[in-house]
Amino acid sequence: MSYANLSNRPSLDHYWMPFTANRQFKAAPRMLVSAEGMHYVSDDGRPVLDGTAGLWCVNAGHGRRQITDAVARQLATLDYAPSFQMGHPLAFDFAERLARIAPGGAAAGLDRVFFTGSGSESVDTALKIAIAYQRAIGQGTRTRFIGRERGYHGVGFGGISVGGIVNNRRVFPQLPGVDHLRHTHDPARNAFAKGLPEHGAELADDLERLVALHGAETIAAVIVEPVAGSTGVLVPPKGYLERLREIATRHGILLIFDEVITGFGRLGAPFAVDYFGVVPDLVTTAKGLTNGVIPMGAVFVSRKVHDALMTGPEAAIELFHGYTYSGHPVACAAGIATLEIYEEEGLLTRAAELAGAWQDAIHALKGLPHVIDIRTIGLVAGIELESRPGAAGARAYNAFIDCFQNGVLIRVTGDIIALSPPLIAEPSHIDEIVTRLTAALRRVH
Ligand SMILES: Cc1ncc(COP(=O)(O)O)c(C=O)c1O
Repeated sequence: MSYANLSNRPSLDHYWMPFTANRQFKAAPRMLVSAEGMHYVSDDGRPVLDGTAGLWCVNAGHGRRQITDAVARQLATLDYAPSFQMGHPLAFDFAERLARIAPGGAAAGLDRVFFTGSGSESVDTALKIAIAYQRAIGQGTRTRFIGRERGYHGVGFGGISVGGIVNNRRVFPQLPGVDHLRHTHDPARNAFAKGLPEHGAELADDLERLVALHGAETIAAVIVEPVAGSTGVLVPPKGYLERLREIATRHGILLIFDEVITGFGRLGAPFAVDYFGVVPDLVTTAKGLTNGVIPMGAVFVSRKVHDALMTGPEAAIELFHGYTYSGHPVACAAGIATLEIYEEEGLLTRAAELAGAWQDAIHALKGLPHVIDIRTIGLVAGIELESRPGAAGARAYNAFIDCFQNGVLIRVTGDIIALSPPLIAEPSHIDEIVTRLTAALRRVH
């Protein structure tokens, strides 16, 4: 069945869309029907330049034959295999290949890999491993987590609890015993910073304050996105992550980096761990792991944490945790082919080559109507607009619709525009994104 034709549209009534204003969308739908390279095609036949790598995941671009062929072959060979008390070689192969490029290199020891089905599952997995680790080393009172305001860690109860987005939290009960660091967004001191902002490393001392408040012996782990993505590209101030690492280590608190967005080359290094040179104890990933082609997540776990749990009777399951789709063979096949492309095309470091031109092009938007801050790092940008009085988010939403109608997909969160094109982008794509966005920003009022 082809939907590349407006007359073939199915009923819109039954699909309850995620994170979408369903009624608004269904009144004026925006449909994508195919994709190749840097472009989608909409159901009215227009090319739409992908300024967001789908949802921060299609790092190698769309329609990669190497991946789709690997998936097709795997489907025909072993479509599914149970992962509890059973194995299949692909999962071990994929984990070994991931270990070879693990965050921080061999010295960091983050080379034990737990597979999940998504970023949210990776986050819940990392939180559970942290608790299990503390218990295994005789620190069973450490059950508390510290997250950060404006953090996004997916939608599981663990993730929304450590996350810091009010709309994701206000309706739902939270995990007990979670507290939050303040966020690091400080436009008064850091507006229009290029790369890492100068001011705010001292905000990491919030962890020290929370230790003083709750007692270190109650805290299992602190989790942050090295660069907060979903709440509008909040780049950490110089020295902040180093300071957080130092305080966490001093108090026996595990540090979790949520690299669901920053993992697999987004910043110009394979992982944010490599970019910042700060080594956490666990790293959560998903998205770019399989180029978004098949849902999958992976948690990189340090040997220290892993080995502490490999104790007790050999016949005992060490961690009571896992998913039906952990290490799914088809997802592993997609992931292996994805890693091959990343390696062959140098994509895990390509954003570093583009970052200078990207930064210049995006910062040229300064001075356009309503633009109050711009942030860039690697191949990511956040462009913050002044909110219309009484209508927060409306201005950026209008820019999003304008860009889509004029052939570029951007992403908005509140009144912040987030850009993160596939890592195969060429300078001409960057020019097109900026040109269309400039025109949109001139049009929205
Ligand atoms: C940092 C971070 N963690 C977790 C998630 C959740 O991932 P998923 O939507 O695959 O569950 C996301 C998704 O955007 C994310 O950006």
